[in-house]
Amino acid sequence: MDSIHIYGGNLLKGETRIQGSKNAVLPILAATLLVKGTCIIKNCPRIADVYHMQNLLQELGCLVSWAGNTVTVNAAQASDNRMSGESVTRMRSSIMLLGAMLGRMGEVVMSYPGGCVIGRRPIDIHLAALRKMGVEIEEEEHMFTARAVRLQGAEVKLPFPSVGATENVILAAVLAEGTTVLENAAREPEIAALCEFLAAAGADMEGIGSGRLVIKGADRLHEVKYTVPADRIVAGTYMTAAMAAGGSIFLEQAPSNQLGALLKAAEEMGCCVTINKEGIGMDVLRRLKALPYLKTEVYDGFPTDLQSPMMAVMALADGQGIVEENIFENRFRVVGDLVKMGADIETVRNKAYIRGVEKLTGAAVEAEELRGGAALAVAGLAAEGRTVIKNRHFIERGYEDICRDLRDLGADASIG
Ligand code: EPZ
Repeated sequence: MDSIHIYGGNLLKGETRIQGSKNAVLPILAATLLVKGTCIIKNCPRIADVYHMQNLLQELGCLVSWAGNTVTVNAAQASDNRMSGESVTRMRSSIMLLGAMLGRMGEVVMSYPGGCVIGRRPIDIHLAALRKMGVEIEEEEHMFTARAVRLQGAEVKLPFPSVGATENVILAAVLAEGTTVLENAAREPEIAALCEFLAAAGADMEGIGSGRLVIKGADRLHEVKYTVPADRIVAGTYMTAAMAAGGSIFLEQAPSNQLGALLKAAEEMGCCVTINKEGIGMDVLRRLKALPYLKTEVYDGFPTDLQSPMMAVMALADGQGIVEENIFENRFRVVGDLVKMGADIETVRNKAYIRGVEKLTGAAVEAEELRGGAALAVAGLAAEGRTVIKNRHFIERGYEDICRDLRDLGADASIG
């Protein structure tokens, strides 16, 4: 069965190591296309989205192999420039290959990645930015062809700091002719990780980590070894698990410097947080106070990817709170199942009004997307009795082994 079984109601206790970052490694795997040789990527999470990116790279002619959590990619023979529709629509982050393929092959035939449960997820910002860099794009109903004899460095100002569009501009700029100045770039830590990977391969970049990047096109990139940083969203998810269920946990490798917004919220609600170079410790020894208002923002505001798990925490806090989702237009899908477990939540457009309840009760629920699924696991840990979460495969897109990790933290969690 494609489900997760959780017997909740117990305090968490224990420690677990945080996996490598999904949203850092996906653009980095795309970037290996720009190296006509071998890249070795360590601490790569074994998750469905990475396996899918591996398949896409192999479709393009790359050799990809694994040893533990180390992936080796040899893109020397990469040549194909077509991405099959099924491949692209199965995983939206395939759009990240656009910039890299333009940099390597000069022409890409790709179907539109399409939307997903959380939103329409258009790519207008990506295409407008690439057009500024000399890319000709012919759009058809379900697919488009992008071609550039030689990508040109350009002044590009994004209308919105889109993470994916920022990554595509970076991937197109590193081998372009001339210099690209990218303004209003996304500042999510995964962008800095991509830039560090590219710089290690010989790219010439200034402003890494800031909203203004200056990228001087290089003639080529060379082979590189790189270690993927820890996944801030996985770490944040497990922090919300302790916030919902209570107890004392330690999250090894958790990147506290990238979780400021959640750490601030946790302390406001009454958690006792310990931060050191090994990771993040959390003690939650009494019912949390409600957070009156929480809104999702671009980095370094509260991350949209932790909005659903935080909803599960706020459902049990003492008092009322409002969650405002500002990044995706449909990211309250999990509310129905949280209500089924006893939560008191109403949504009006992009706001969720939450009245904390004393307890949740285990139920049969269904994940509809990655972070909503994770939120149901968080709620299940706090709920009395058994929670069965169907559609585990959504959760496995981003969490290497959520049951293993939650068992490390003392939970009764298993796959069913
Ligand atoms: C990345 O998605 C992440 N995915 C998402 O994580 C994350 O939620 C998101 O950034 C925001 O932080 C990966 O890195 C693989 P955006 P991305 O472009 O690049 C709109 C997860 O759970 N937009 O910053 O798609 C868009 O519709 C996933 O791990 C346009 O309108 O995010 C959305 O409303 C979910 N036109 C908003 O901007 C465009 O051309 C943010 O999108 C591009 C985006």
